[in-house]
Amino acid sequence: MRMWLSVIVVALLQSPAAPKKGGNPEAAKVKNPIAMSPESTAAGKRIYTRMCSRCHGSEGKGDGTAASVAVPDLTDAAWDYGGSDGDIFAVIHDGVSTDMEGYAARLSDTDIWNVVNFVRSVGPKP
Ligand code: HEC
Repeated sequence: MRMWLSVIVVALLQSPAAPKKGGNPEAAKVKNPIAMSPESTAAGKRIYTRMCSRCHGSEGKGDGTAASVAVPDLTDAAWDYGGSDGDIFAVIHDGVSTDMEGYAARLSDTDIWNVVNFVRSVGPKP
């Protein structure tokens, strides 16, 4: 009984666009409201340098030192949780592990989209 209750609570708390291994089609449908621009990637880079580079490395290659496990390279074409803007937003917003925490409490949605644009700008060109 108690187990079912917690299953229901978790299901209610999880947004349909929560990050999933392999990507989440619901997250992929979420459109990036911030157009790619030098201003957006610069704003994203400032946040990235402050909050992400210690694990993901100054250039996103996964060569930071602060994580307890291997950190994915954000500049290659492989995306464990899907490579759409919406999937990347979901990972940063909700988090996926104790190392890769959610940033919803620390960053506004606009800040997260700017970080998504920065990550995009260092990644492979589509
Ligand atoms: C304490 C270390 C740490 C910090 C800080 C951190 N990450 Fe991560 N990140 C990880 C690890 C480890 C993973 C892999 C998680 C997994 O697959 O279980 C990850 C995964 C990701 C992914 C998914 C990559 C893929 O292949 O799908 C993205 C995107 C990402 N991080 C972006 C960020 C951004 C942006 C920030 C800053 C706002 C950040 N991370 C901060 C450690 C960190």
